[in-house]
Amino acid sequence: MSAKSAATLRNSMRLLTVIGIAVAVVALLCTRSDSRMAFAGQQQDKQLTAAVTCATCHAGVASSFKNAPMRHAMEPDGANPLLNAHPDITSQLGAYTYRVQTRGAHSTYSVSDGKDTLTLPIHWIFGQHTQTWVLEKDGHFYESLVSYFPRENTLATTPGDQGISPHTLEEAVGRRLPIWETRVCFNCHASGVGEKLDVAKITPGLNCEHCHAGAQQHMEDAANENFKTLPKSLKHLDAEQVSDFCGQCHRTFDTVMRNRWHGPAFVRFQPYRIELSKCFVGNDPRISCVACHNPHQQLNHSTAFYDSKCLACHEARASSRVAAKVCPVAKSNCTSCHMPKVELPGGHAQFTDHFIRVVKPGEDYPE
Ligand code: HEC
Ligand code: HEC
Ligand code: HEC
Ligand code: HEC
Ligand code: HEC
Ligand code: HEC
Ligand code: HEC
Repeated sequence: MSAKSAATLRNSMRLLTVIGIAVAVVALLCTRSDSRMAFAGQQQDKQLTAAVTCATCHAGVASSFKNAPMRHAMEPDGANPLLNAHPDITSQLGAYTYRVQTRGAHSTYSVSDGKDTLTLPIHWIFGQHTQTWVLEKDGHFYESLVSYFPRENTLATTPGDQGISPHTLEEAVGRRLPIWETRVCFNCHASGVGEKLDVAKITPGLNCEHCHAGAQQHMEDAANENFKTLPKSLKHLDAEQVSDFCGQCHRTFDTVMRNRWHGPAFVRFQPYRIELSKCFVGNDPRISCVACHNPHQQLNHSTAFYDSKCLACHEARASSRVAAKVCPVAKSNCTSCHMPKVELPGGHAQFTDHFIRVVKPGEDYPE
């Protein structure tokens, strides 16, 4: 722990003591009899524990994570800033007209074949950029057949569903999800999803516990000055371990290989793409996901930000465990040439190819 975080922690503990004393004083002033004292004691414990959150001691991490995309991988019903700004969107796809309307922060999804219209409320909002909705009808879950693409402010076919040609209004709503798929879909975008999905109990988006198993116990213990039950540290993992950890959701190299997924649709699975690179040395933390991305923060879109990450290996004087070469062409903005953006099939959105390489003009998408 750095001296600064140690000092912050000491201050937090001091604050806790102050709160504790304040609660005790209030309790003393308000009560006389012994039993009421005992009750006040219980209340004091409760209030103390309720006052403690991760932010009490990890203030920096907790405050930046509030705005991190993964915190918002799913939005709760009633919170849809993207659609609030675009309250009425319509698109014609084949024989069907899709309309997504937002009033007072609640959205509805309608499909019409010209004669009949089916309208469903939108309760589960997936995605910060591209937005797909999981809809419920007669006890079944559906992945909306159209998604919202902010780049063109349009509704278009959900990535992966291009092969579906609906014959009925029901089919036009979306792809019916089997129970197992509904569960994994929520589990990657929300927290508190147990072995059996109960949508009433989940927390939309990723919370701390989703990545730091055991954090709840640690918080309760830490509030009582017991630091023996720390969650497993993720700070000292090597590149391959981190890739597999993030790959639980961003898909691992093995998952892509096992499923024989090919083509630019799978450029979005960064662990698989980066492991194709010559740069990827499994036991070197300089090429791990967290060398370039802080999972508690927003994604950094500046190419200059990543230069130092590349140069950690590709600089003449880099303390290199590997003999990495120096670029004969440029000294900055490395990712702009070596990590090209790839358009998803069907268009409307693009991803950064994590297969780091010399990109030849006009080359096919490399596998
Ligand atoms: C009362 C203070 C306190 C509270 C509350 C608290 N922590 Fe901690 N936490 C600590 C201390 C002290 C350490 C050990 C020093 C360190 O590594 O930062 C620690 C360590 C950790 C670590 C391991 C860091 C590493 O990589 O070594 C994680 C992860 C963590 N806490 C997450 C959480 C989460 C998530 C919560 C809320 C659910 C939480 N903590 C609540 C004090 C606290
Ligand atoms: C429990 C599932 C899960 C795990 C584990 C996970 N992610 Fe994510 N991540 C997501 C989801 C879902 C999104 C999409 C959020 C959105 O844009 O709606 C996302 C988004 C991101 C983004 C932002 C993309 C953008 O366009 O803004 C980055 C960067 C990222 N993850 C990096 C990581 C890294 C690094 C790790 C490992 C340390 C990791 N993730 C682990 C589920 C996960
Ligand atoms: C194995 C974990 C996993 C499953 C299962 C999963 N997702 Fe995702 N999803 C991710 C990750 C990671 C990202 C961020 C990277 C990306 O866009 O591919 C993401 C991205 C998205 C995005 C785009 C977010 C953006 O900001 O552009 C949408 C929309 C989405 N998922 C919806 C769904 C829906 C709906 C389901 C279920 C039918 C689902 N996902 C199932 C992990 C998962
Ligand atoms: C997507 C997964 C993910 C989520 C969600 C997440 N963390 Fe982390 N956390 C990590 C990883 C990975 C590391 C190791 C980062 C590194 O080595 O740079 C880490 C490191 C830490 C550390 C130790 C290093 C530091 O930066 O101080 C603390 C403390 C911590 N996390 C607390 C939290 C808290 C509190 C939350 C919720 C507000 C949270 N984390 C949410 C993945 C996550
Ligand atoms: C050497 C640096 C580097 C490493 C290592 C790295 N990334 Fe990235 N990543 C980038 C850059 C650069 C972008 C594009 C940022 C931008 O311009 O928006 C990016 C973008 C992303 C995005 C946003 C969607 C996209 O593809 O554009 C996600 C999610 C992501 N990375 C996840 C990961 C995961 C998971 C790992 C580990 C397997 C990883 N990254 C390793 C540099 C890196
Ligand atoms: C862990 C150290 C490491 C990091 C970090 C790293 N590389 Fe590499 N890179 C290597 C090694 C090792 C090779 C193979 C030997 C060589 O060509 O230097 C390589 C090869 C390359 C090649 C040549 C690939 C080919 O097909 O011949 C390019 C281009 C490249 N890296 C660019 C980058 C860029 C851009 C970044 C940052 C986004 C980066 N590297 C980050 C270690 C690294
Ligand atoms: C304007 C585009 C561009 C930028 C920016 C750029 N490169 Fe390159 N890089 C290239 C091209 C083109 C080649 C292939 C040159 C050749 O084969 O003659 C190359 C080659 C390389 C190689 C392979 C060298 C070898 O001898 O095989 C590495 C490693 C590399 N670049 C790393 C980087 C790093 C690190 C950065 C950022 C500091 C960077 N590049 C910035 C275009 C670029």
